[in-house]
Order: sequence, then structure tokens, then C-alpha cells
Amino acid sequence: MIWYSHVNEDSSPEIAFSKGYYSVISVIGSGERLIALLSNTHLKQVFAVDTNSDAIELLKLKLLALTELDVEGYLRFTGASEMSANERMMYFMKLQNKLEASTRNYWNKNHRIIKKGILNIGQYEKFLSKARPLLNVFLGVSFLKMFNQDYNSYSKFRWKIVKNIFSKKTSYLLLGNKDPAFIGKGVDASIITKGFQELIDKKEIHKSFMAYLVFFGSLKKMDVEFLPTSQNPETLKKIQDRLRKKKIEIQFINNDVLNFLESNAFKSYNSNVFLSMSDILSFHKTDYVIKCIKALKVSDKCAFVFRSYLRNHIDTNIIKKIKALGYKVKDVSNMESTKMYKVHLVEKL
Ligand SMILES: C[S@@+](CC[C@H](N)C(=O)[O-])C[C@H]1O[C@@H](n2cnc3c(N)ncnc32)[C@H](O)[C@@H]1O
Repeated sequence: MIWYSHVNEDSSPEIAFSKGYYSVISVIGSGERLIALLSNTHLKQVFAVDTNSDAIELLKLKLLALTELDVEGYLRFTGASEMSANERMMYFMKLQNKLEASTRNYWNKNHRIIKKGILNIGQYEKFLSKARPLLNVFLGVSFLKMFNQDYNSYSKFRWKIVKNIFSKKTSYLLLGNKDPAFIGKGVDASIITKGFQELIDKKEIHKSFMAYLVFFGSLKKMDVEFLPTSQNPETLKKIQDRLRKKKIEIQFINNDVLNFLESNAFKSYNSNVFLSMSDILSFHKTDYVIKCIKALKVSDKCAFVFRSYLRNHIDTNIIKKIKALGYKVKDVSNMESTKMYKVHLVEKL
């Protein structure tokens, strides 16, 4: 099962704080954050880690497509822009010979999802496509006018009702969302609706890729200026150039990231490593952070970015424990444009 396929995190904090690092260890998820991190010109080595082998197969296909196709072709093949199902299959047939056998076999069993565009096939994206018609019928076209910076026409009353409904995790459950990040114990789904409220209050909804994904299902209508890094054609060209010149060695690891750190199976250039942990706290309690820091035995420069989404947030107690291990902690959530994630930078002193 592919849980996430499209971009769903604003990677700005990770991009800013990974500059200058030679090695990156990154949880994969949709792969979009990891692709954004390839824009770091110092980067030589990436460990792409996920417990879910399907996420690895998705990233392998995205990276091959980005290397082999031109950027416009990549965006069309993956589903960021229009392409017919037949044309997607023709592209895949050309790409498949360059895939390793296991990945080729995986995707040959999944032609159906290639035809839809591999950005649009995750459980999260399927959930959104179920919720979107309900949202749009109820909120009406006046709500969508906010994307053209008209914040006066929409019905505040209807928005209040939608906010109430989608502040409860049962609504996600009823719409078929099976992801523990949304329906697990301790989840506070009002973080999602509060995030949208903040975007509305600041009149920034047109800058939010998350809002476009939820209400339109794609970023096709978004101003290129506000596109997330992994969807920005100019940045993708630079990343593509580095991939084609084989400037970055990428290893795929199908393991729990903590097990991977404990195994010490990675060699980092100059012990200089940045860890992009994503919203791992949607799946693990906060002491997982402490275990990961303890497991990372590097002598030199290193930093983690941990995210939390709807539960298991880093609190003062955890911050105290992190500091006791010789690390400093900074809440950098304000760098995250979705307004839904809590983001913490944890750096070795
Ligand atoms: C952490 S999130 C990433 C979702 C994210 N918002 C995205 O798509 O970029 C979900 C991914 O983490 C993976 N995952 C969860 N716990 C993990 C762990 N302990 N080690 C490695 N991968 C993990 C899941 O298999 C899933 O693919």
C-alpha cells in the first residue's frame, strides 16, 4: 500500500538546515521531501529509508523518470500535469528497461496506477478525492474565490460547519482514511482546520500547496512562485543535472530508521550527516526521538529535523532530555507553510 504519493510537507526547513551537509538520511514517504533535498549542492550521499517497500518502489520510479525524461515529461508522466493514460504507459514502457528487475516487476503489476499518474495514487490522495466533492459542493464556488484573493465572498457559516466536521477524527474514519496519522490514539484533527483558518486569516491560501491539493486535487493552477521545491520546474532541472551526472549516491533501505541507525550500517562523509525524519512522530511516541539521537554515533556535525502532525508533539520534557544528550533544539514550525506540522531542528552542539 502506498500511503502518500504527492507532496504533503513544506520542505523549506529541511532544505534550509541541510545546506552544507554531505550525507542525508531521510524517511521516504511520498519521496517528494527527499527529492527536494537533492537540491543541496554539497550533497554526495543519501540513505533513503522506509519500512514500507512500496514507498521505496515509488521513489525509485520517480527518480528514474526524473533522470531519463525532460522535466516537463517528468511532471506530465507523474501526474503533476496532463498526460493521457496511454501516453503514460508508452513512457513507462521506455523507462522500464532501466529499472532494476524487482522494481520493474512491481510496476508491471501496477499499470493501473501508472496510468493515473504516480503522484495521485496514495491512500491520502484517494481520501482527498473522496472528501473533495463533498467539500466543494457544500462550500460552493465562492470559497474557491479565495484562491484568487477574494476573501469577502465565501460563506463564513458554511466554513464554520466544515471546520467543525473536519476537526473530528471520526470524519476521517467515516471517509475511509485508515492512516494512524489521522485516526490513531491522541490525534487532534482540529490542527488541520486551524491550519486552514490561519491561511484564511493571513490571506495566504493562494500560496499554500496543501490548500490546492485539498480543494483542487493538484497544483496545476498554482502560481509557479509558490510551488513546493519538488514540483518547481527550474529546481527540478538542477536536481536532474546532478542525478544525470551521478553526483549523488542513493542507497535504499527497507528498514525502521531507528534500526538502521542502531545497525550503524551507514558511513557518512566526515561524520557529517543531516537526518530528515519527516512526521515520524505520527507513528511513534516522542521517546523515539531520544532513541534515534542516542543511536546516531557520529563524532562531528549532525542535525535532525523531526516533525509531528496531529499527535505526539515534542514537549518541554523531551526537549530537556535532548539537551542532556548534548544537542540544541529549536522550534522552526514558523518556516512551514502548511501551518499543520510542528517542526523541530535538533543540532549537535
Ligand atoms: C513519516 S511519514 C511521511 C509522510 C509524509 N508526510 C510524506 O509523504 O513525505 C510516512 C512514511 O514513513 C514510513 N515510516 C513510518 N515509521 C517508520 C520508521 N520507524 N522507519 C522508517 N519508515 C517509517 C511509512 O512507511 C511511510 O511511508
